[in-house]
Amino acid sequence: MRRSGSPPAVFLVGFMGAGKTSVGRVLSRRLGWPFEDLDDRIQAREGRTIEEIFRNSGEAEFRRAENRALRALLTAPGSIPRIVALGGGAFAQPENAQLLARAAVPVVFLDGPAEELFRRCEQEGRERPLKGDAKQFRELYDRRRPAYLAASWRVDTSGKDVNTVAAEVACSLGLGSEQDS
Ligand code: S3P
Repeated sequence: MRRSGSPPAVFLVGFMGAGKTSVGRVLSRRLGWPFEDLDDRIQAREGRTIEEIFRNSGEAEFRRAENRALRALLTAPGSIPRIVALGGGAFAQPENAQLLARAAVPVVFLDGPAEELFRRCEQEGRERPLKGDAKQFRELYDRRRPAYLAASWRVDTSGKDVNTVAAEVACSLGLGSEQDS
């Protein structure tokens, strides 16, 4: 594993069901870097769950909280190497994409076909305020995909398990080889 010249953080982005959190956790173990999920930070800062924020204050307020949490994370003192998973809509907000571009951190888009991502969300069973039915899911996916494609790296997750995807992310960033998964 190459340590010198390693990026200070790796940001994982992509649609719901892309595996950002699970891949992030595996990457964190592989690299020995702390992992952070931006949605957890939002919930801790706001003192309520993502579902409660959506239900009681609406999406616009959630996006403001998300942007505040991302700003706080990027300006936190002692920026140690870490893996950060963003919620599905975060990178599709231009102001968040700009913040990450300004911070010059590597952003990895975990890609996959809408049908497979929908299936994964159904299997997980976690409540996701914007998931909707298969048709709504696909429409939102189509609207957002061009934004995700602006990420510096894209890793295809289709048909792959979490360890394989984590190994590919590490390899793309020069942080390990695909064999040592
Ligand atoms: C969202 C995805 C969720 C969470 C929130 C909004 C979205 O995260 O941030 O419900 O806009 O796609 P996951 O991608 O982890 O489900």
